[in-house]
Amino acid sequence: MNILVIVGTESGNAQMVGETVVEDLIRAGHDATLVEECNGGLAVLALEARDALLVCTSTHGLGELPDNLIPFAEVLKAEAPDLSRLVYGIIALGDQTYGETFCRAGKDMDALLASLGAHRRGDRLEIDACTQPLPDEDALAWLKEWLPLLAS
Ligand SMILES: Cc1cc2nc3c(=O)[nH]c(=O)nc-3n(C[C@H](O)[C@H](O)[C@H](O)COP(=O)(O)O)c2cc1C
Repeated sequence: MNILVIVGTESGNAQMVGETVVEDLIRAGHDATLVEECNGGLAVLALEARDALLVCTSTHGLGELPDNLIPFAEVLKAEAPDLSRLVYGIIALGDQTYGETFCRAGKDMDALLASLGAHRRGDRLEIDACTQPLPDEDALAWLKEWLPLLAS
């Protein structure tokens, strides 16, 4: 499968998770690509050519998207493409001590993609930095369950 992994990160945790996921996908024979920005516009991401999109993002500020993911969200809002043929998954990194804004960026990206008609497969993975010092372990376990859902 052709899977695009887009990462939102400020200090590298989500980047590390995204890289681990991409390595695992490639090892399993998939065509996986990691991107960290969307400054060239939506066309560069070729969403229509992907079998799935995986958003892997932390949350910063008070529930905000990492800076590098903002252009992706902004272009989606501005262009409002029809994503009804796209399936996606969300890996959200956060910290429970932030309370109400726990994993807010992942939740907001989930809502934005759904509002454009895309279909989430599986549950959103929410990784709490307080209780899980090794987020890639959770991500790989989740990935094993997520991949078969793409076929349905
Ligand atoms: C300044 C700051 C603000 C944060 N705000 C939130 C937040 O609102 N909600 C949340 O769930 N996590 C929040 N976090 C926790 C990060 O999302 C978490 O540490 C994550 O693992 C960082 O991943 P990254 O290195 O990919 O950016 C914040 C962390 C920092 C340093």
